[in-house]
Amino acid sequence: KEIYLNGFAGHRSKVPVDFSRLEAEAKRIMSRNAYAYIAGGAGVESTMTGNRKAFDRYKIVPRMLCDVGARDTSISIFGHTLPSPFLMSPVGVLEMVHSQADLAVANAAKRLSLPYIFSNQASFPMEECAALMDTSPRWFQLYWSKSNDLVESFVQRAQRCGCTAIVVTLDTTLLGWRARDLDIGYLPFLEGKGIAQYTSDPVFQKMMDEPDLGPEVQRRVTPSSLVGLVKMVNRYPGNGFFKKLRSGRPLKAVRKFVSTYSNPRTTWNDLKLLREYTSLPIVLKGILHPDDARKAIDHGIDGIIVSNHGGRQVDGAIATFDALPAIAKVVNKKIPVLLDSGIRGGADAFKAIAMGATAVCVGRPYVYGLTIAGAQGVYEVLRNIMADFELTMGLAGCRNIREIVENTLARP
Ligand code: FNR
Repeated sequence: KEIYLNGFAGHRSKVPVDFSRLEAEAKRIMSRNAYAYIAGGAGVESTMTGNRKAFDRYKIVPRMLCDVGARDTSISIFGHTLPSPFLMSPVGVLEMVHSQADLAVANAAKRLSLPYIFSNQASFPMEECAALMDTSPRWFQLYWSKSNDLVESFVQRAQRCGCTAIVVTLDTTLLGWRARDLDIGYLPFLEGKGIAQYTSDPVFQKMMDEPDLGPEVQRRVTPSSLVGLVKMVNRYPGNGFFKKLRSGRPLKAVRKFVSTYSNPRTTWNDLKLLREYTSLPIVLKGILHPDDARKAIDHGIDGIIVSNHGGRQVDGAIATFDALPAIAKVVNKKIPVLLDSGIRGGADAFKAIAMGATAVCVGRPYVYGLTIAGAQGVYEVLRNIMADFELTMGLAGCRNIREIVENTLARP
């Protein structure tokens, strides 16, 4: 109603409501490198397109005369009530599209009271985002570093920042095969973007003071990434950032980051360590197999996010909506099951909830809102999705989230 009334009063929203137009408008504004990095998926992008197609195979079957005059979209998760079943996925390197990056997203999250999952690859330290958010909910997303001390430090900082859950992203122990980025030969991290959580961390800072590149670290740094970096530094002698790089410390930071950011050797056993570091709920992001959902429960994990990283990691992977039913069955409501990858509107969220999700997370749409109009853009994109969801729920004949059950869907 608010959106129509604003339109009537001549206050048009800053971002297109339709997702394709939103993406096209953001593409027009952002750099070629940024668009490739953000919009792209792994390989021939079949996982990315498959995420959307999976939603489309199921249809909502609306019910009539259900008295939907009062609608309640709130949910409860880890003892907190959220106004709507949406969270904001962790997205790194937002400085590529807007100078306020994570700060703008934090601002919008606060206005909407939706949980913002701070990315480990953020462009601003989590402390700066948290400082803008009052008591609004926030979680922290962790990539399991090669340094356990760094993991512990991140988790402790998150706790001090008022984060109420730790999300461990499991699907990015290695970076996926991303054709668009490979064609340009560009990775933001090598320019020192998206490493603010690291450079602001006392343990990381200490690591930087250690003698550079011991044999152990040298073995782990991808030689090609360093060669690329050095090439770029030499190719653009006038570039301010590269000037700084040549001055020593930023280059060292990038090198340290590349050598420690993620550990492909991580196993279920390592999660025990995380439990020692924190009593906050631990959420595993990237679960796609029902057996892994079962393992998560066996390991005392508090929640999972069914995710394929927006189709950016394994090309040809199962769509998250296709993975959901078997996972929801195994989990059997013992812990919350969230879902992301391909959520673009209210109907997608409705279908995910009908199939057993507790809530959904949104990634790229808010990044496009950020690109076009900063914090206001993020706010409008999410507000639109929330409003769309509320209408879909009511028009389908459901008064609240509990009434969104499997038989509201059909597979024609
Ligand atoms: C991501 N994603 C991600 N996930 C994570 O755990 N940590 C991160 O730092 C990032 N960074 C990131 C950057 C960009 C540009 C994108 C598009 C995605 C994955 C993200 O959390 C989420 O899983 C997907 O974005 C969800 O899919 P949609 O909504 O983008 O289709």
